[in-house]
Amino acid sequence: MNRRNFLKAAGIAGATLLVRELAGAGIKHAQKRKEKKVIALNGSPHEKGNTAYALSVMEEVFRKEHIEFEVIPVGIYSIRGCIACGRCRETGEECIFTNDREREWLSRMKLADAFVFASPSFFGGIPGTMKSFLDRAFYAQSRYFQHKLGAAIVTTQRSGASMTFESLNQYFTINQMNIVSSSYWNNIRGSQIDDLKQDEEGIRTLETLAKNMINKLKIENGASGDY
Ligand SMILES: Cc1cc2nc3c(=O)[nH]c(=O)nc-3n(C[C@H](O)[C@H](O)[C@H](O)COP(=O)(O)O)c2cc1C
Repeated sequence: MNRRNFLKAAGIAGATLLVRELAGAGIKHAQKRKEKKVIALNGSPHEKGNTAYALSVMEEVFRKEHIEFEVIPVGIYSIRGCIACGRCRETGEECIFTNDREREWLSRMKLADAFVFASPSFFGGIPGTMKSFLDRAFYAQSRYFQHKLGAAIVTTQRSGASMTFESLNQYFTINQMNIVSSSYWNNIRGSQIDDLKQDEEGIRTLETLAKNMINKLKIENGASGDY
């Protein structure tokens, strides 16, 4: 092969490689820029109660920015707690009590980018049902949550919000998750939904929280993050 033909062949091979590289990078870029999804867990036994209202305040902000948002009402079901049998750790698989419903939830959580753990305060803590779910999910399948965004929100009639909030944050901080914060500790207060609607500071806190979560999701996506 003379010098001219060699350079021509090298040019074609180089161009082909470059096209392949660019196509690969494009696919990776597109995969990286997939639509973001936020999953909220509602720990209340009332599917449409105060905690659901608090989540609806955040949902409105997410919808405006076309962020997919789904609420899983864990609190309305009967959920087994962890019995520390260690089986999940031995096998690296799911908890022995995981049923079809929970398995389906977890399969969706595995694909989510961010989480909102929403809970009423029960005697200053997380209601047993939600705690049972979180204990088992984070003991057996913590990898589904790791390195993702997490925010806790709490509804109270009067007090106990901070303790409940801190308890929810424990799941994030033991599992290398990135906590999203707001301008106050995320709590909205009142007896009925109409009372919550009067809690302007609570509503503002939740809206700011949703905006901050969107910003973090956008920064991860390579955008400026200005929301
Ligand atoms: C068993 C139980 C315990 C509660 N403990 C507290 C509490 O410690 N502090 C508080 O402010 N409200 C407490 N409440 C009230 C609820 O936390 C509050 O009304 C919450 O907003 C209800 O949310 P939901 O409508 O989504 O269920 C308790 C309610 C129940 C049923």
